Amino acid sequence: MRMEFANEPFTDFTKEQESAAYDAALGAVKEQLGRTYPLVIGGKAIETGRMLESTNPADKGQVIGIVHQADKELADQAIRIAYDTFLTWRHTSAKERASHLFKASAIMRRRKHEFSAWLTFESGKNRAEADADTAEAIDFMEFYAREMLRLSEPQPLTRLPEEDNELYYTPLGVGIVIPPWNFPLAIMAGMTTAALVSGNTVVLKPASPTAVIAAKFVELLEEAGVPAGVVNFLPGPGGEVGDFLVEHPLTRFISFTGSRDVGLRINERAAKTAPGQKWIKRVIAEMGGKDCIVVDSDADLELAADAITASAFGFSGQKCSACSRAIIHADVYDEVLERVVERTAKLKLGNPTERGTNLGPVVDEKAYAKILEYIEIGKSEGRLVHGGGIGDECGYYIEPTIFADVDAKARISQEEIFGPVVAFTKASSFEEALEFANNTDYGLTGAVISRNRAHLEQARREFFAGNLYLNRKCTGALVGVHPFGGFNMSGTDSKAGGRDYLLLFTQGKLVSEKM
Ligand code: NAD
Ligand code: ALA
Repeated sequence: MRMEFANEPFTDFTKEQESAAYDAALGAVKEQLGRTYPLVIGGKAIETGRMLESTNPADKGQVIGIVHQADKELADQAIRIAYDTFLTWRHTSAKERASHLFKASAIMRRRKHEFSAWLTFESGKNRAEADADTAEAIDFMEFYAREMLRLSEPQPLTRLPEEDNELYYTPLGVGIVIPPWNFPLAIMAGMTTAALVSGNTVVLKPASPTAVIAAKFVELLEEAGVPAGVVNFLPGPGGEVGDFLVEHPLTRFISFTGSRDVGLRINERAAKTAPGQKWIKRVIAEMGGKDCIVVDSDADLELAADAITASAFGFSGQKCSACSRAIIHADVYDEVLERVVERTAKLKLGNPTERGTNLGPVVDEKAYAKILEYIEIGKSEGRLVHGGGIGDECGYYIEPTIFADVDAKARISQEEIFGPVVAFTKASSFEEALEFANNTDYGLTGAVISRNRAHLEQARREFFAGNLYLNRKCTGALVGVHPFGGFNMSGTDSKAGGRDYLLLFTQGKLVSEKM
C-alpha cells in the first residue's frame, strides 16, 4: 500500500550544498544544448526536416534545442495511431497505468535539478521558480496515480436486495493535450498524465517556446515504461496543427491551458461535428486571468506588501494566477504602495542561471513587445511609480513595473498583460474594493488581506474567483491542497490537482445484474 499523497518539498537554496548542486545541473544541461528533437508517433522518432529553434529568453543567441515540426498529415497519423492504441490501452488495469506514473515521478525526483535546469534555460525561470515547477510536476503524477486507484475502487451505490450494481469510470478515447509555456513542465505533465492514467491515449502538442522540456518529459515517460502510442509527441505550429487536431473526427476530447482567445477558438471548433464523428467532444479549457489582491483598511500592511510583491513579480508576472491589480482601501493606499515600491526596488532583474536573481526575462519577442506596449498604455492610464524600462538587451528583460492611481475600468486593469506589471487602484470602502475585484471578464485567483472577520466572510461569499485566498498571496497553488481552476473567461474550472479532475477524462458506466 502506498503512503498517502504528500507534496514534494521545495529545495532550500539558502543551503550552499543545494545551490551548488543546482549550478552543477545547469552546467550539465548546458553541455546538451542545441540538440535536435524529433516527433514521436507510435513510439517511432520522426524527423520532418521542418525545424524550429527554441532559444533562451535570457540570452537570445543561445539555442536550447531544434525541434522538428509536424504538419497536418503527421497530425492525422498521430491521431490514428493514438486511436488504435486506445483500443488496447483502455483495457489495462488502473493499477498498471498508475504504476507508470509512480515510476515517472520517481525518475523525475532523482533528476529534479536536471529538469529544473532545462526550465531555467528554456523558459527563463530562476532556480526557486523552476524547482517549484518540477515539484508540481512530481506532485501531479503522484496525485493522479492515487486518484485513479481511488476511482477504480467500487463506487458507493444504494443497494437493492436482488441486483448487483456497479459503476465504473471508463476512459473517453483520444485526447489532444495543448499546454502553455508558462508552467512548461508541471502543467504539461499534469494534463498529459491525467489523461493517460485515466486510460486515454494522447496527442501532445507542446507550446513552441518550451517544446524541448516537453520532449524531455516524453523521453521520461518512455523510460518509465509507458507503451508506444499512448503519448504521441507532436510539436508544430499552433494555428495549423492545432486547428486540425481539434477538428479531427477521432478526437474525443481536448485538454487545453492557455490564452482566452485560443481557448474560445478551440471551444467553438470542437463544438462543430465533423463527418464520421460519433460523440460530442469534451473541452477542458483553462484560460487567462486578471487577478487581484484586495487590501482592507485594517490589514497587516507588511503581509499585504509581501503578498502583492511576490504575486505580481514571481516569474516576471507570467502566471495566470499573478496579481496584476492591487485594490487598496483609501485609508492605507499610500502606505501599501510605498511598501510595495520599497520591496520591488530590491528585486534583482538578471540572468536566471545566476544565484540571487529574482526576475528573469519574459518568454519571447512577442511577449516582450506586448508587455512594453501595455507599459506605454499604462503611462496614460496611471502614474508610473516604479520600473517601466528594459534590462540587458541580450535577453527579453523588463523591469518590474508599478502604476498607481489606475481606474478600475482602465485597459491595464481589464486586459491580461502577462508580464511584470501591476496596477494600483484606490477603493473608498471594502464593498467598493470587492466590486472592483469582480469587475473583469475573468475569475481565476484573488486574495483579500484583512483582519476584519465580517469582511473575510463577505469575500468568501461575494468574491467571484475559482481560487480565493485570504491573508496570503494569490499565486502558488499546491496540488491536492488548492485544486486550481477559474470562473467566467478564466475557463471551465477544471480544478487541476483536485479530486474532481480525473472525472473530466472519464465517463461513468453503470452495470446492473439481476440476481
Ligand atoms: P496560448 O493560448 O498562446 O497557447 C497555448 C497553447 O495553444 C500552445 O501550445 C499553442 O501552441 C496552442 N495553440 C495556439 N493556437 C492554437 C489553435 N488554433 N488550436 C490549438 N492550439 C493552439 O497561451 P500561452 O501564451 O502558451 O500561455 C499563456 C496563457 O495561458 C495566459 O493567458 C495564461 O493566463 C494562461 N494560463 C492559464 C492557466 C490556468 O490554469 N488557467 C495556467 C497557465 C497559463
Ligand atoms: N498553479 C499556479 C499558481 O497557483 C498557476 O500560481
